[in-house]
Amino acid sequence: KRIVVLISGSGSNLQAILDQTLEGQINGTIEAVICNRPGAFGLTRAEQAGIDARLLDHKQFTDRESFDAALIELIDSYTPDLVILAGFMRILTPELVRHYQGRLFNIHPSLLPKYKGLHTHQRALEAGDAEHGCTVHFVTEELDGGPLIVQAKTDILTDDDEQSLQQRVHQLEHQIYPLAVQWFCAGRLSLDQTGVRFDGELL
Ligand code: GRF
Repeated sequence: KRIVVLISGSGSNLQAILDQTLEGQINGTIEAVICNRPGAFGLTRAEQAGIDARLLDHKQFTDRESFDAALIELIDSYTPDLVILAGFMRILTPELVRHYQGRLFNIHPSLLPKYKGLHTHQRALEAGDAEHGCTVHFVTEELDGGPLIVQAKTDILTDDDEQSLQQRVHQLEHQIYPLAVQWFCAGRLSLDQTGVRFDGELL
């Protein structure tokens, strides 16, 4: 399977998935990494792995629609089976989401449907939650609202602060994202009108 990864930052999720493709755990290859922020370390990770590292700076575009149109053209030039958002900090237009519906993943640092949006770790701490975690989901037009694929949880400890909690959740992300990608590339995971199917069963 052909994979394209979209990033905006350090790309540690990209690295976790890349490592698993290189170890043969994932039946897929990352054909390109596309980043909207100049200088993001994730671009360096791609270059070091000999993968096309493409910058598409959203500041070069007058509006969201023209950026997304250029993004679709660039993504499609790699004919991907799966497009992965890995810390891609852009809100996508409905057109782009529809174009990739059913083959577009995202990872979110909360136990969705709780804490959609930003500052999820701080919000979980302030709410006094007993646990927190991360979620891989199919992307639909609702921000952080798509059908869930897999989650990982961690207890919130009394001495946790945003940094310690974020660090633990980040490690969990690096476990569940490659797993979800592996399932999709093995043909075990799909999204249809009724929802997410894993090995043919509705999740
Ligand atoms: C992760 O915390 C992820 O949950 C969020 O953005 C961050 C990406 O981190 N969507 P990295 O760039 O993969 O290290």
